[in-house]
Amino acid sequence: MTTPAGNGPILEAESLDKKFGGIHAVQGVSLHVMPGEVVALAGDNGAGKSTVIKMISGVYRPDGGEVRYQGQRVDQLTPRQIRDHGIETIYQDLALADNLDVGTNLFLGREKIKKLLGIPYLDRKTMRSEAAKALKNLGIVVRDLDAPVRTLSGGQRQALAIGRAVYWQAKLLIMDEPTAALGVPEQREVLALIHRLKASGVGIIFISHNLHDIFAVSDRIVVLERGRKAGERLASETDGDEVVKLMMGGV
Ligand SMILES: Nc1ncnc2c1ncn2[C@@H]1O[C@H](COP(=O)(O)OP(=O)(O)OP(=O)(O)O)[C@@H](O)[C@H]1O
Ligand SMILES: [Mg+2]
Repeated sequence: MTTPAGNGPILEAESLDKKFGGIHAVQGVSLHVMPGEVVALAGDNGAGKSTVIKMISGVYRPDGGEVRYQGQRVDQLTPRQIRDHGIETIYQDLALADNLDVGTNLFLGREKIKKLLGIPYLDRKTMRSEAAKALKNLGIVVRDLDAPVRTLSGGQRQALAIGRAVYWQAKLLIMDEPTAALGVPEQREVLALIHRLKASGVGIIFISHNLHDIFAVSDRIVVLERGRKAGERLASETDGDEVVKLMMGGV
């Protein structure tokens, strides 16, 4: 089956399965994301959320099941190939290089190279001005673009990671606990950015433990419990109590 881009789901994961030795981390989990839709992946610690998204972003090969992106199978691709297709992932342990500046981080893995007398060098000037434009478009304020990323606040780092996804025109953005380590104003900023991306048609998978955040941004909620899908609800048709019960294996 092929899905014409634009109409059908941007992403379909079907019956995903992953074992780590004796641990069946993910069992038969299916989910889909429509363009402009935010799907929350909820579940207790160890429920299998990060493992599911790592199968979608190419970090792990599924032991069973398949992942289709715009109708095309992508579950045998490398993380780099997946990114080049337009799926950006912001991992729980933020994939930014701490000692590099903001511009260089925006281009991490896809650095702009120029040549002088045949000798390649990093085009920092272009990367810096492109980064400044990209962040400004998103309303992200970073005072010093030359500062190493480790000097940024948690919220700025998240914003930069989101900025990177936008700059490279991701069609699907996967965010694993993007607000977990942030202060309240920074959490709000990240949630506002999610709303802006959604409005521009980007599909988003949002992992969080925080029910308030989940209900603030998501259209649909998929609940995992010990590796299995415990349920799926429209955010408008459920509430925190029901989601918690699903997370605990009730309902
Ligand atoms: N690389 C790995 N090797 C062995 N076991 C793993 C590995 N990654 C995950 N697991 C196990 O798989 C299960 C699911 O882990 P996963 O990280 O997907 O959970 P999670 O829902 O993201 O949890 P959290 O909310 O704490 O981030 C856990 O039992 C975990 O210990
Ligand atoms: Mg996790």
